[in-house]
Formats: sequence, C-alpha cells, structure tokens
Amino acid sequence: TLAEKGGYDHFMEKEINEQPQSIKSALAGRIENGYPTIKELDSIKDFIKNDLEKIYIVACGTSYHAGYSMKYFVEAYSNINISLEVASEFRYMNPHVDDKTLVIAVSQSGETIDTLEGIRLAKQKGAHVLAMSNVVGSTIPRESHSVVYMNTGPEIGVAATKTYTAQISILYAIAAQIMNWKGYYTEEVKKIISELELIPDIYKEILSKKDHILELAREYTHYKHMMFIGRGFGYTASLEGALKLKEISYINANGYQAGELKHGPIALLDESFPVFAIVPFNGLREKMISNIMEVKARKARVIAISTKGDEKIKKITNEYIEVPKTSEAISPLTVAPVTQLFAYYVAILRNLDPDKPRNLAKSVTVE
Ligand code: G6P
Repeated sequence: TLAEKGGYDHFMEKEINEQPQSIKSALAGRIENGYPTIKELDSIKDFIKNDLEKIYIVACGTSYHAGYSMKYFVEAYSNINISLEVASEFRYMNPHVDDKTLVIAVSQSGETIDTLEGIRLAKQKGAHVLAMSNVVGSTIPRESHSVVYMNTGPEIGVAATKTYTAQISILYAIAAQIMNWKGYYTEEVKKIISELELIPDIYKEILSKKDHILELAREYTHYKHMMFIGRGFGYTASLEGALKLKEISYINANGYQAGELKHGPIALLDESFPVFAIVPFNGLREKMISNIMEVKARKARVIAISTKGDEKIKKITNEYIEVPKTSEAISPLTVAPVTQLFAYYVAILRNLDPDKPRNLAKSVTVE
C-alpha cells in the first residue's frame, strides 16, 4: 500500500530516499570521535591482534560489491591483504583458510545458500566466521562465530539499495577496527572514518538533486547497452552501478576497470553504446579523462559522476552529475545514491516495476 511505501511509488524509491536515516542507524554506536567502537568485535580482539593472518570476504551480488570497497580500503591503508570471493566460487574452491583466518560473510538476508555453504566450509577448515546481515536470527548469523547486524530496517525492494550503503559503512568501521588493532590507524584512516559520519548530510544534498537525475535518465532509456567504468574505488562503484541498471531496467550493463577498456570492451563502443564514467576527484582522475577521450573518439555518449566544481569533466562529457568532495575511499558511498536513482528512473521510464524485476529473488536460498 501507499502507506507502507511512505508516500513513494515504489519500495525501491522509498529505500533510496531513506538512506540518510538508514546509514545513521547502521553506524549508531559504532564510531566515536573518529574511532570505531564495534562492541561485537571485542570478543575477537585478541584473535585479531595475535593470531589473524588472513582475511577473506565471501558474498554474492550487491553484498560482494560492498566487500570490494572494504578490500580496497584495507589494502590502501595497511599491509593487510583481503581475498574477496563470490560465494558460489569460494564454496567449490580449495580456499586457503585455516585457524588464523577471519572469514567475513556479507549477506543482507542472511539466507543466501552459496554464502551459507561457504561459511560451513570455512568453519570446517577452522576459520573464525564473522557474519554481517540485516536480518536478526537468520541462518548465516546463527551459524557464524560473531555477528554484526546492519540495523537498517527491512529492505523490501528486490534490488538492494539502502543495505548496500549500510554494508559499506559498517564494513569500513570493521576495517578500521581491524587496522587499529593491527597498528595501522593513521591520520588518513581516522579522517575517512570521521567522514563516514557526514554521509547522512551528504546524502540529503545528493537526494535533493533527484529531478536532475530523472532528466538525465530520460536520455538513456532507449539504449540496449551501457558500460560503467572507473578506477580504484570508482571501479567498485561502477560494478554496483551496472548491476542496479541491469537488474531493474534490463539494459545490458557491465562495470569495467577503465584501464581494461583497451583490452576488449572498447571494441563494443559506438554511438549506440553509452558509457557511464565514475570520476571522483582523485589521483586517477587524469587517467579517467584519457579514458573518456578514448570513448568519445568512438562516438559513444558519456555521462559522468564527478566531484563538485570539476569543470574539466563538465566540458568533456555529454551529461554529468556532481557529488560533494570526500576522501577517495568514501566515493563508493557518494556515487551509490546517484547510480541507484539513475537505474530506478530508467526502469520506471521503461514502464518496468523496479520492486519486482523478472527472474530475480530478494534472497536466493536454493542453488
Ligand atoms: C539476490 C538479491 C541481490 C543480493 C544477492 C545477495 O541476488 O536479488 O540484491 O545482493 O541476492 O543477497 P544477500 O542477502 O546474501 O546479501
């Protein structure tokens, strides 16, 4: 009913717009004065400090993309390696997991069968399993050694939105806690963690531009294909941007590392194949500008997400959306509401129901 949807047309729209509050509740009590305070990790503090040698993140779909940002964050600011695996691969591999390994299972529903089987395997091999889920008492948390719940409230739309941004936020807080205990809590890490607390206000600003995003989406509804490109944290954001679009609009969309264009994907491009470039203001911006020029030389239309005030990106793209400047590591969070709204508007302009995409389920409990 309309009441359940809080006056919005769809749950997906409601959940996108809820993100200033959902991030706030996800982070409540978990960051204080620039330091992580995740009490659920206290019982494994000694394990992390003294024994931990390896970290795996195991997840599917959007949860996997949230894990990707955590991997980039931890590896950028520490010497800790993270192996990131899609659960349906992990469970049939010979993962090098032992009693010095922390396996982080990221699952919004806590019921995804591949992720569940992945943690069962990890437990057999002696790993410590930490689950992150939005559903209290669901199977994956019940079978894990430790649990961090997301506290974002139920998500009804099949395509994950508010739980994705909550996952990144909490995974960053977990990452910070681990880096702190492992002796990597630099000023840079502290700054990033402090910026997490600004996300609710940043989201209000981004969401206030939704009419602009609707107008841009109108320009892209008739294409059959679309490519999302980025580098570094922009790459992890491009994976999720492409997934959202394909899930609910059925436009063939894939995310690529912009540097990989020349190794294949660029062969696809022409005027019928637009590119969504994710260009937060960072060390790789100049490289992204070169990639955009290459794409334009193939006559592909370019829409970009850039940082406020980036005049150069405005000049060289057909359409652009600006987001506030943050640390680079935070950019997957500033990009997300834009690509979510973009996918949502493309879907409704194509007369599709974004809450019930064909062939997809909210939670995949059979293999
Ligand atoms: C399904 C959903 C996705 C979700 C994925 C993993 O495919 O449609 O939105 O990302 O499962 O779900 P989980 O509950 O494990 O995060």
